[in-house]
Amino acid sequence: MANPFHLGWFLGNGFGVYAWDDTWRGTQARDWYKPAFYQDLARSLERACFDFVMLEDGSFVPDGYGGSSELYLKLPTASPKLDPAVTIPLMSEVTSRLGLVPTLSTSEYPPFLLARLVSTLDHISEGRAGWNVVTSRTQITGENFGTHFPDKEDRYAIADEYIELVKKLWNSWERDAIIADLERGVFADHTKVHRVDHVGEHFRSRGPLNAPHMPQGEPVIVQAGQSPTGRQFAAKNADAVVGIGNGVEALKAYRDDLSERMLSVGRKPADLKLMYLIMPVLGETNEEAQERSKRWKQFRQFDLEWGLALASKVSGIDWSKFELDEPMPDVMQVKKDGVWQETAAPPKQYNPDGTEMTVRQTFESKGGGQFRGSNSVEFVGTPDAVAGQMGEAMEEIGGDGFLLQNLYVTRRYVSEICDGLIPELQRRGLTRTGYTNEHFRDNLKEF
Ligand SMILES: Cc1cc2nc3c(=O)[nH]c(=O)nc-3n(C[C@H](O)[C@H](O)[C@H](O)COP(=O)(O)O)c2cc1C
Repeated sequence: MANPFHLGWFLGNGFGVYAWDDTWRGTQARDWYKPAFYQDLARSLERACFDFVMLEDGSFVPDGYGGSSELYLKLPTASPKLDPAVTIPLMSEVTSRLGLVPTLSTSEYPPFLLARLVSTLDHISEGRAGWNVVTSRTQITGENFGTHFPDKEDRYAIADEYIELVKKLWNSWERDAIIADLERGVFADHTKVHRVDHVGEHFRSRGPLNAPHMPQGEPVIVQAGQSPTGRQFAAKNADAVVGIGNGVEALKAYRDDLSERMLSVGRKPADLKLMYLIMPVLGETNEEAQERSKRWKQFRQFDLEWGLALASKVSGIDWSKFELDEPMPDVMQVKKDGVWQETAAPPKQYNPDGTEMTVRQTFESKGGGQFRGSNSVEFVGTPDAVAGQMGEAMEEIGGDGFLLQNLYVTRRYVSEICDGLIPELQRRGLTRTGYTNEHFRDNLKEF
């Protein structure tokens, strides 16, 4: 029997208002901000034995396409959305084993505040906290916070010191500092609580943290670094990393590169779980699933203008300025190891006759698809067929699991995955049928 793999669910792209105009939208247009949807999702994921749910974040309303927020708000995307730090505890309340991963940015939270927040989350969830480490990605974030927004390389360098500091703070209380000794009237032993006195290039902090050692010691650190710097950061700091590359070969290259980087920083490749971002399309029959897949690609989220708007959001380049039927402008870095750089756009591609693809052709090509919803490998079919495809892909690429996402999250889609696909994966022995451990990290490390 094949080895089992892990499952995560990513609520991305401005989680919360995805399906407000979908046929299966339910009440989302009216009550997208209420806890019920997120709590229903959390219960479903735990029923299906997912390792974790991850909520994206970013503190800005995009306006990079044509210098206007019109398109972003019309869809909507990225905004409005709830704060993951508030939403995640609501999901914790209705679950007991599901890992809970908010996205929190090193460019937005002071380290002490973040250390305390994540510690609190690990306590109230009894050992299920994670942290998707991001450095934020647009200048607007800096403007919203009234702070200087460094470029990406610097943000990663700052994040390195940031992680070092928050780890010191998390460990400023020894595990057995709380003794709650009624006889002696001592709750916490002060000799086991230490100042950190961090003085670094970017941060200073005195400590100790005003929260005790957390159940997991430290949260499960998730990262989605794609650039060489981002990958190095993940190799050094993360417990799980998200792979997005276009197709099996690109993912293999990504995996091999990460393994080398892990070895270069003295870690075992097996200590970093590699999760591939996917968006399965299911149907009662394979034909129906194919038909749905075609239909989904016609959703607004997948149309050309949307692709250009999303590219503008992540790249800082205004793609409304280019002629659609002219060759691609020379503004992007070259795709490296099959994965785009964050500041890049789709790489130049060529038609069979050797001519350069136009902007329109590029964004409409499979390669341009990343800007219309990241999908590492396409899985389309009945639950039985998709379970088989996922097993085969994992065997071929190697890796540790899949991170599922959908741009149109409805209760129907959640049920299709949790009550249709997952039982088929479980029947094949490919995913867990129960949680062996109480803590998120222990479950993630189990296989
Ligand atoms: C699945 C996934 C989720 C991400 N979530 C966020 C997010 O919530 N907020 C954010 O600012 N960046 C997010 N990112 C961006 C990554 O943190 C990272 O910046 C990006 O993948 C580019 O990698 P690089 O920084 O190494 O270039 C996400 C990326 C991926 C693939």
